[in-house]
Amino acid sequence: MANKKILIVPGDGIGQEVTAVGKKVLDKVAAKFGHEFTYDEALIGHVAIEATGNPLPEESLAKMKASDAVLFGAVGHPKYDNDPSAKVRPEQGLLKMRKELGLYANLRPIKLFDELLAASSIKPEILRGADILFFRELTGDIYFGDKGRKNNGDTAYDVAEYSRFEVERIGRKAFDAARTRRKKLCSVDKANVLETSRLWREEIQKLALEYPDVEVEYQFVDATAMLLIKDPCRFDVVVTANLFGDILTDEASQIAGSMGMLASASIGDGTGVYEPIHGSAHDITGKGVANPLASILSAALLLDISFGMKAESELVIHAVDQVLKAGYRTRDIADATTAPEMILGTDAMGEQVLSHL
Ligand code: NAD
Ligand code: IPM
Ligand code: MN
Repeated sequence: MANKKILIVPGDGIGQEVTAVGKKVLDKVAAKFGHEFTYDEALIGHVAIEATGNPLPEESLAKMKASDAVLFGAVGHPKYDNDPSAKVRPEQGLLKMRKELGLYANLRPIKLFDELLAASSIKPEILRGADILFFRELTGDIYFGDKGRKNNGDTAYDVAEYSRFEVERIGRKAFDAARTRRKKLCSVDKANVLETSRLWREEIQKLALEYPDVEVEYQFVDATAMLLIKDPCRFDVVVTANLFGDILTDEASQIAGSMGMLASASIGDGTGVYEPIHGSAHDITGKGVANPLASILSAALLLDISFGMKAESELVIHAVDQVLKAGYRTRDIADATTAPEMILGTDAMGEQVLSHL
Protein backbone atom coordinates (compact mmCIF):
# COMPACT_ATOMS: atom_id res chain seq x y z
CA MET A 1 0.00 0.00 0.00
CA ALA A 2 1.55 3.27 -1.11
CA ASN A 3 0.37 6.86 -1.36
CA LYS A 4 1.49 8.59 -4.53
CA LYS A 5 0.76 11.90 -6.23
CA ILE A 6 0.46 11.59 -10.00
CA LEU A 7 0.24 14.64 -12.24
CA ILE A 8 -1.65 14.16 -15.51
CA VAL A 9 -0.41 16.54 -18.22
CA PRO A 10 -2.48 15.77 -21.33
CA GLY A 11 -1.25 18.65 -23.54
CA ASP A 12 -2.64 18.84 -27.05
CA GLY A 13 -4.47 16.81 -29.70
CA ILE A 14 -4.59 13.08 -29.03
CA GLY A 15 -2.53 13.69 -25.88
CA GLN A 16 -5.88 14.50 -24.24
CA GLU A 17 -7.51 11.31 -25.52
CA VAL A 18 -4.75 8.85 -24.63
CA THR A 19 -3.80 10.16 -21.18
CA ALA A 20 -7.45 9.85 -20.10
CA VAL A 21 -7.11 6.12 -20.79
CA GLY A 22 -3.66 5.89 -19.16
CA LYS A 23 -5.10 7.45 -16.02
CA LYS A 24 -7.95 4.92 -15.86
CA VAL A 25 -5.40 2.13 -16.01
CA LEU A 26 -3.42 3.65 -13.12
CA ASP A 27 -6.67 3.97 -11.16
CA LYS A 28 -7.58 0.34 -11.68
CA VAL A 29 -4.09 -0.78 -10.65
CA ALA A 30 -4.33 1.28 -7.46
CA ALA A 31 -7.70 -0.26 -6.59
CA LYS A 32 -6.47 -3.78 -7.28
CA PHE A 33 -3.27 -3.48 -5.25
CA GLY A 34 -4.65 -1.27 -2.46
CA HIS A 35 -2.56 1.82 -3.32
CA GLU A 36 -3.80 5.34 -2.97
CA PHE A 37 -3.02 7.43 -6.05
CA THR A 38 -4.13 11.06 -5.99
CA TYR A 39 -4.26 13.01 -9.23
CA ASP A 40 -3.91 16.58 -10.31
CA GLU A 41 -3.78 18.06 -13.84
CA ALA A 42 -1.58 20.73 -15.40
CA LEU A 43 -1.43 22.63 -18.67
CA ILE A 44 1.33 22.48 -21.28
CA GLY A 45 1.64 23.24 -24.99
CA HIS A 46 -0.98 24.90 -27.17
CA VAL A 47 -3.71 24.62 -24.52
CA ALA A 48 -1.41 26.39 -22.05
CA ILE A 49 -0.60 29.16 -24.56
CA GLU A 50 -4.32 29.66 -25.16
CA ALA A 51 -5.05 29.88 -21.42
CA THR A 52 -1.99 31.81 -20.19
CA GLY A 53 0.21 32.87 -23.13
CA ASN A 54 2.95 30.54 -21.80
CA PRO A 55 3.59 26.97 -23.13
CA LEU A 56 4.77 25.91 -19.65
CA PRO A 57 3.17 28.10 -16.98
CA GLU A 58 5.03 28.38 -13.65
CA GLU A 59 2.06 26.75 -11.95
CA SER A 60 2.42 23.64 -14.13
CA LEU A 61 6.13 23.40 -13.44
CA ALA A 62 5.59 23.77 -9.69
CA LYS A 63 2.98 20.98 -9.78
CA MET A 64 5.39 18.74 -11.72
CA LYS A 65 8.15 19.28 -9.17
CA ALA A 66 5.75 18.53 -6.32
CA SER A 67 4.40 15.28 -7.77
CA ASP A 68 5.80 11.74 -7.54
CA ALA A 69 5.46 11.16 -11.29
CA VAL A 70 4.01 12.79 -14.41
CA LEU A 71 1.90 11.08 -17.07
CA PHE A 72 2.30 13.29 -20.13
CA GLY A 73 0.45 13.21 -23.47
CA ALA A 74 1.81 15.32 -26.33
CA VAL A 75 2.14 18.93 -27.48
CA GLY A 76 1.70 20.55 -30.87
CA HIS A 77 -0.83 22.29 -33.07
CA PRO A 78 -1.02 22.73 -36.87
CA LYS A 79 -1.24 26.47 -36.39
CA TYR A 80 2.44 26.55 -35.34
CA ASP A 81 3.66 23.74 -37.60
CA ASN A 82 2.62 25.86 -40.58
CA ASP A 83 3.89 29.15 -39.19
CA PRO A 84 7.69 29.06 -38.87
CA SER A 85 7.70 32.69 -37.68
CA ALA A 86 5.69 32.02 -34.47
CA LYS A 87 7.90 32.99 -31.53
CA VAL A 88 5.89 31.24 -28.80
CA ARG A 89 5.41 27.53 -29.62
CA PRO A 90 3.89 24.49 -27.85
CA GLU A 91 7.10 22.46 -28.20
CA GLN A 92 8.97 25.05 -26.09
CA GLY A 93 6.85 23.90 -23.14
CA LEU A 94 7.98 20.31 -23.57
CA LEU A 95 11.65 21.23 -23.91
CA LYS A 96 11.48 23.50 -20.87
CA MET A 97 9.83 20.74 -18.82
CA ARG A 98 12.67 18.34 -19.75
CA LYS A 99 15.35 20.91 -18.90
CA GLU A 100 13.78 22.16 -15.66
CA LEU A 101 13.18 18.64 -14.34
CA GLY A 102 16.68 17.53 -15.37
CA LEU A 103 15.28 14.68 -17.50
CA TYR A 104 18.50 13.81 -19.27
CA ALA A 105 17.72 10.15 -20.00
CA ASN A 106 14.85 9.15 -22.28
CA LEU A 107 14.28 5.39 -22.30
CA ARG A 108 12.41 4.19 -25.34
CA PRO A 109 11.82 0.43 -25.29
CA ILE A 110 11.07 -1.04 -28.72
CA LYS A 111 9.45 -4.37 -28.01
CA LEU A 112 7.39 -6.20 -30.53
CA PHE A 113 4.35 -8.01 -29.18
CA ASP A 114 4.33 -11.28 -31.16
CA GLU A 115 0.69 -10.76 -32.08
CA LEU A 116 1.67 -7.63 -34.03
CA LEU A 117 4.14 -9.31 -36.39
CA ALA A 118 1.71 -8.71 -39.25
CA ALA A 119 1.13 -5.05 -38.36
CA SER A 120 4.67 -4.04 -39.25
CA SER A 121 5.84 -3.32 -42.77
CA ILE A 122 8.99 -5.37 -42.03
CA LYS A 123 9.03 -9.10 -42.94
CA PRO A 124 8.09 -11.30 -39.94
CA GLU A 125 11.16 -13.52 -40.19
CA ILE A 126 13.39 -10.45 -39.83
CA LEU A 127 11.31 -8.94 -37.07
CA ARG A 128 10.56 -11.86 -34.74
CA GLY A 129 12.21 -11.44 -31.33
CA ALA A 130 13.19 -7.78 -31.80
CA ASP A 131 13.72 -6.12 -28.41
CA ILE A 132 15.71 -2.88 -28.26
CA LEU A 133 16.11 -0.37 -25.45
CA PHE A 134 17.04 3.10 -26.67
CA PHE A 135 18.68 5.61 -24.36
CA ARG A 136 18.14 8.98 -25.99
CA GLU A 137 20.01 11.86 -24.35
CA LEU A 138 17.30 14.43 -23.70
CA THR A 139 18.63 17.74 -22.34
CA GLY A 140 21.58 18.54 -24.61
CA ASP A 141 22.65 18.62 -28.26
CA ILE A 142 21.31 20.94 -30.96
CA TYR A 143 18.03 21.20 -29.01
CA PHE A 144 19.66 23.17 -26.18
CA GLY A 145 23.09 24.51 -27.25
CA ASP A 146 23.99 27.44 -24.97
CA LYS A 147 25.47 29.27 -27.97
CA GLY A 148 21.89 29.58 -29.09
CA ARG A 149 19.90 29.59 -32.27
CA LYS A 150 19.12 32.45 -34.56
CA ASN A 151 17.51 33.43 -37.81
CA ASN A 152 19.44 36.34 -39.31
CA GLY A 153 17.13 36.79 -42.23
CA ASP A 154 19.18 35.15 -44.97
CA THR A 155 20.98 32.67 -42.73
CA ALA A 156 20.06 30.83 -39.57
CA TYR A 157 21.90 28.60 -37.11
CA ASP A 158 21.38 26.16 -34.26
CA VAL A 159 24.37 25.08 -32.22
CA ALA A 160 24.92 21.48 -31.17
CA GLU A 161 26.84 21.19 -27.92
CA TYR A 162 27.78 18.36 -25.54
CA SER A 163 29.88 18.38 -22.40
CA ARG A 164 31.68 15.26 -21.20
CA PHE A 165 29.58 14.92 -18.06
CA GLU A 166 26.40 14.84 -20.14
CA VAL A 167 27.69 11.93 -22.22
CA GLU A 168 29.02 10.13 -19.18
CA ARG A 169 25.77 10.18 -17.20
CA ILE A 170 23.58 8.89 -20.06
CA GLY A 171 26.30 6.42 -21.06
CA ARG A 172 26.45 5.02 -17.54
CA LYS A 173 22.68 4.48 -17.47
CA ALA A 174 22.86 2.66 -20.81
CA PHE A 175 25.77 0.42 -19.74
CA ASP A 176 24.00 -0.41 -16.46
CA ALA A 177 20.85 -1.37 -18.39
CA ALA A 178 22.86 -3.51 -20.83
CA ARG A 179 24.19 -5.47 -17.84
CA THR A 180 20.64 -6.44 -16.91
CA ARG A 181 19.79 -7.49 -20.49
CA ARG A 182 21.79 -9.22 -23.26
CA LYS A 183 24.99 -7.27 -22.39
CA LYS A 184 25.29 -5.54 -25.76
CA LEU A 185 25.55 -1.81 -26.23
CA CYS A 186 25.58 0.11 -29.49
CA SER A 187 26.66 3.75 -29.31
CA VAL A 188 25.41 5.77 -32.26
CA ASP A 189 27.01 9.00 -33.43
CA LYS A 190 28.38 10.85 -36.46
CA ALA A 191 32.00 10.89 -35.28
CA ASN A 192 33.28 10.87 -38.86
CA VAL A 193 32.01 14.45 -39.18
CA LEU A 194 30.93 16.09 -35.91
CA GLU A 195 33.09 17.29 -32.97
CA THR A 196 30.21 16.64 -30.54
CA SER A 197 30.16 13.04 -31.78
CA ARG A 198 33.91 12.62 -31.39
CA LEU A 199 33.64 13.78 -27.78
CA TRP A 200 30.68 11.42 -27.37
CA ARG A 201 32.67 8.46 -28.70
CA GLU A 202 35.68 9.22 -26.50
CA GLU A 203 33.52 9.27 -23.39
CA ILE A 204 31.74 6.01 -24.28
CA GLN A 205 35.12 4.39 -25.01
CA LYS A 206 36.32 5.46 -21.55
CA LEU A 207 33.21 4.08 -19.89
CA ALA A 208 33.54 0.81 -21.77
CA LEU A 209 36.73 0.10 -19.78
CA GLU A 210 34.59 0.00 -16.63
CA TYR A 211 32.15 -2.49 -18.21
CA PRO A 212 34.35 -5.25 -19.68
CA ASP A 213 31.37 -7.64 -19.50
CA VAL A 214 29.38 -5.51 -21.96
CA GLU A 215 30.09 -5.93 -25.67
CA VAL A 216 30.25 -2.46 -27.20
CA GLU A 217 29.94 -1.48 -30.82
CA TYR A 218 30.05 1.94 -32.44
CA GLN A 219 27.89 2.80 -35.41
CA PHE A 220 27.32 5.93 -37.43
CA VAL A 221 23.77 7.22 -37.37
CA ASP A 222 23.19 6.82 -41.11
CA ALA A 223 24.26 3.16 -41.05
CA THR A 224 22.13 2.62 -37.93
CA ALA A 225 19.05 3.88 -39.75
CA MET A 226 19.66 1.17 -42.33
CA LEU A 227 20.54 -1.62 -39.86
CA LEU A 228 17.38 -1.07 -37.80
CA ILE A 229 15.29 -2.17 -40.77
CA LYS A 230 17.74 -4.72 -42.19
CA ASP A 231 18.35 -6.62 -38.95
CA PRO A 232 16.53 -5.19 -35.89
CA CYS A 233 17.41 -8.26 -33.77
CA ARG A 234 21.12 -7.38 -33.80
CA PHE A 235 20.46 -4.54 -31.31
CA ASP A 236 20.08 -4.75 -27.54
CA VAL A 237 20.74 -1.38 -25.84
CA VAL A 238 21.36 1.66 -28.05
CA VAL A 239 22.66 4.95 -26.65
CA THR A 240 22.64 8.12 -28.70
CA ALA A 241 22.36 11.90 -28.77
CA ASN A 242 19.13 13.85 -28.55
CA LEU A 243 18.46 14.52 -32.25
CA PHE A 244 19.65 11.13 -33.53
CA GLY A 245 17.55 9.40 -30.86
CA ASP A 246 14.46 11.38 -31.82
CA ILE A 247 14.71 10.32 -35.45
CA LEU A 248 15.85 6.71 -34.96
CA THR A 249 13.06 5.90 -32.48
CA ASP A 250 10.29 7.10 -34.81
CA GLU A 251 11.86 4.80 -37.39
CA ALA A 252 12.12 1.99 -34.84
CA SER A 253 8.43 2.36 -33.97
CA GLN A 254 7.80 0.38 -37.14
CA ILE A 255 9.54 -2.56 -35.49
CA ALA A 256 6.79 -2.47 -32.84
CA GLY A 257 4.10 -1.99 -35.48
CA SER A 258 3.08 1.65 -34.90
CA MET A 259 3.93 4.95 -33.25
CA GLY A 260 0.87 4.22 -31.14
CA MET A 261 2.73 1.35 -29.42
CA LEU A 262 5.83 3.16 -28.19
CA ALA A 263 6.06 4.31 -24.59
CA SER A 264 8.89 6.23 -22.99
CA ALA A 265 10.31 7.20 -19.62
CA SER A 266 12.18 10.47 -19.14
CA ILE A 267 14.27 10.33 -16.01
CA GLY A 268 17.11 12.20 -14.37
CA ASP A 269 17.43 14.48 -11.39
CA GLY A 270 13.80 15.02 -10.38
CA THR A 271 10.25 13.83 -11.05
CA GLY A 272 10.06 11.24 -13.85
CA VAL A 273 7.87 11.96 -16.87
CA TYR A 274 6.18 9.14 -18.79
CA GLU A 275 4.92 9.69 -22.30
CA PRO A 276 4.24 8.07 -25.65
CA ILE A 277 6.92 8.92 -28.24
CA HIS A 278 4.24 10.10 -30.66
CA GLY A 279 2.96 13.64 -31.03
CA SER A 280 -0.43 15.30 -30.98
CA ALA A 281 -1.38 13.66 -34.33
CA HIS A 282 -3.55 16.43 -35.81
CA ASP A 283 -4.69 14.12 -38.59
CA ILE A 284 -6.66 11.92 -36.16
CA THR A 285 -7.39 14.32 -33.28
CA GLY A 286 -10.99 14.21 -32.07
CA LYS A 287 -11.85 11.11 -34.11
CA GLY A 288 -11.56 8.71 -31.18
CA VAL A 289 -9.27 6.36 -33.11
CA ALA A 290 -5.89 7.07 -31.48
CA ASN A 291 -4.15 4.02 -30.11
CA PRO A 292 -4.00 4.42 -26.30
CA LEU A 293 -1.54 1.55 -25.78
CA ALA A 294 1.54 3.82 -25.84
CA SER A 295 0.05 5.83 -22.98
CA ILE A 296 -0.98 2.66 -21.13
CA LEU A 297 2.53 1.23 -21.56
CA SER A 298 3.94 4.58 -20.38
CA ALA A 299 1.83 4.18 -17.24
CA ALA A 300 3.42 0.72 -16.84
CA LEU A 301 6.89 2.32 -17.04
CA LEU A 302 5.81 4.89 -14.46
CA LEU A 303 4.74 2.18 -12.03
CA ASP A 304 7.98 0.29 -12.48
CA ILE A 305 10.57 3.07 -12.60
CA SER A 306 9.18 5.85 -10.42
CA PHE A 307 7.24 3.72 -7.91
CA GLY A 308 9.23 0.46 -7.94
CA MET A 309 5.94 -1.41 -8.48
CA LYS A 310 7.21 -4.24 -10.66
CA ALA A 311 4.25 -6.60 -10.26
CA GLU A 312 1.78 -3.81 -11.01
CA SER A 313 3.73 -2.79 -14.09
CA GLU A 314 3.96 -6.35 -15.37
CA LEU A 315 0.25 -6.83 -14.89
CA VAL A 316 -0.45 -3.85 -17.16
CA ILE A 317 1.88 -5.18 -19.87
CA HIS A 318 0.30 -8.61 -19.53
CA ALA A 319 -3.18 -7.10 -19.93
CA VAL A 320 -2.10 -5.37 -23.15
CA ASP A 321 -0.69 -8.67 -24.39
CA GLN A 322 -3.95 -10.47 -23.57
CA VAL A 323 -6.02 -7.92 -25.45
CA LEU A 324 -3.78 -8.23 -28.50
CA LYS A 325 -3.92 -12.04 -28.23
CA ALA A 326 -7.72 -11.81 -28.17
CA GLY A 327 -7.40 -10.13 -31.56
CA TYR A 328 -8.43 -6.57 -30.68
CA ARG A 329 -6.68 -3.80 -32.60
CA THR A 330 -6.83 -0.08 -33.09
CA ARG A 331 -6.77 1.08 -36.69
CA ASP A 332 -3.01 1.75 -36.77
CA ILE A 333 -2.13 -1.85 -35.77
CA ALA A 334 -4.82 -3.65 -37.75
CA ASP A 335 -3.81 -5.59 -40.84
CA ALA A 336 -5.60 -6.99 -43.87
CA THR A 337 -6.78 -10.02 -41.88
CA THR A 338 -8.37 -8.03 -39.02
CA ALA A 339 -12.17 -8.33 -38.98
CA PRO A 340 -13.84 -4.89 -38.88
CA GLU A 341 -15.58 -5.65 -35.54
CA MET A 342 -12.17 -6.25 -33.93
CA ILE A 343 -10.98 -2.72 -34.77
CA LEU A 344 -11.65 -0.56 -31.71
CA GLY A 345 -11.51 3.14 -30.95
CA THR A 346 -9.44 4.73 -28.18
CA ASP A 347 -11.89 4.26 -25.32
CA ALA A 348 -13.04 0.78 -26.31
CA MET A 349 -9.41 -0.38 -26.50
CA GLY A 350 -8.87 1.13 -23.04
CA GLU A 351 -11.92 -0.75 -21.72
CA GLN A 352 -10.52 -4.03 -23.05
CA VAL A 353 -7.25 -3.48 -21.22
CA LEU A 354 -9.11 -2.52 -18.01
CA SER A 355 -11.15 -5.71 -18.23
CA HIS A 356 -7.92 -7.74 -18.14
CA LEU A 357 -6.53 -6.01 -15.06
P1 NAD B 1 2.80 12.45 -34.70
O1 NAD B 1 3.54 11.48 -33.87
O2 NAD B 1 1.83 13.30 -34.02
O3 NAD B 1 2.03 11.64 -35.86
C1 NAD B 1 2.73 10.91 -36.88
C2 NAD B 1 1.76 9.90 -37.51
O4 NAD B 1 1.54 8.81 -36.59
C3 NAD B 1 0.39 10.48 -37.83
O5 NAD B 1 -0.10 9.93 -39.02
C4 NAD B 1 -0.46 10.03 -36.66
O6 NAD B 1 -1.83 9.90 -36.96
C5 NAD B 1 0.17 8.70 -36.30
N1 NAD B 1 0.02 8.43 -34.85
C6 NAD B 1 0.73 9.00 -33.87
N2 NAD B 1 0.31 8.56 -32.68
C7 NAD B 1 -0.68 7.68 -32.92
C8 NAD B 1 -1.52 6.90 -32.08
N3 NAD B 1 -1.44 6.91 -30.75
N4 NAD B 1 -2.47 6.11 -32.68
C9 NAD B 1 -2.57 6.07 -34.01
N5 NAD B 1 -1.80 6.78 -34.85
C10 NAD B 1 -0.86 7.59 -34.31
O7 NAD B 1 3.90 13.32 -35.47
P2 NAD B 1 3.73 14.60 -36.45
O8 NAD B 1 2.50 14.45 -37.29
O9 NAD B 1 5.03 14.74 -37.09
O10 NAD B 1 3.55 15.83 -35.47
C11 NAD B 1 2.29 16.36 -35.07
C12 NAD B 1 2.51 17.37 -33.95
O11 NAD B 1 2.96 16.70 -32.78
C13 NAD B 1 3.56 18.44 -34.26
O12 NAD B 1 3.07 19.67 -33.81
C14 NAD B 1 4.77 18.01 -33.49
O13 NAD B 1 5.60 19.08 -33.09
C15 NAD B 1 4.14 17.35 -32.30
N6 NAD B 1 4.96 16.31 -31.67
C16 NAD B 1 4.95 16.27 -30.31
C17 NAD B 1 5.59 15.25 -29.63
C18 NAD B 1 5.54 15.24 -28.14
O14 NAD B 1 4.78 15.97 -27.57
N7 NAD B 1 6.31 14.40 -27.48
C19 NAD B 1 6.21 14.24 -30.35
C20 NAD B 1 6.19 14.30 -31.75
C21 NAD B 1 5.54 15.32 -32.40
C1 IPM C 1 9.54 13.85 -29.11
C2 IPM C 1 9.18 15.04 -29.97
C3 IPM C 1 9.86 16.28 -29.45
C4 IPM C 1 11.37 16.10 -29.62
C5 IPM C 1 9.43 17.62 -30.09
C6 IPM C 1 7.96 17.79 -30.11
C7 IPM C 1 10.08 18.78 -29.40
O1 IPM C 1 9.45 14.80 -31.31
O2 IPM C 1 9.27 13.87 -27.91
O3 IPM C 1 10.07 12.87 -29.65
O4 IPM C 1 11.91 16.36 -30.69
O5 IPM C 1 11.99 15.68 -28.65
MN1 MN D 1 10.01 12.76 -31.73
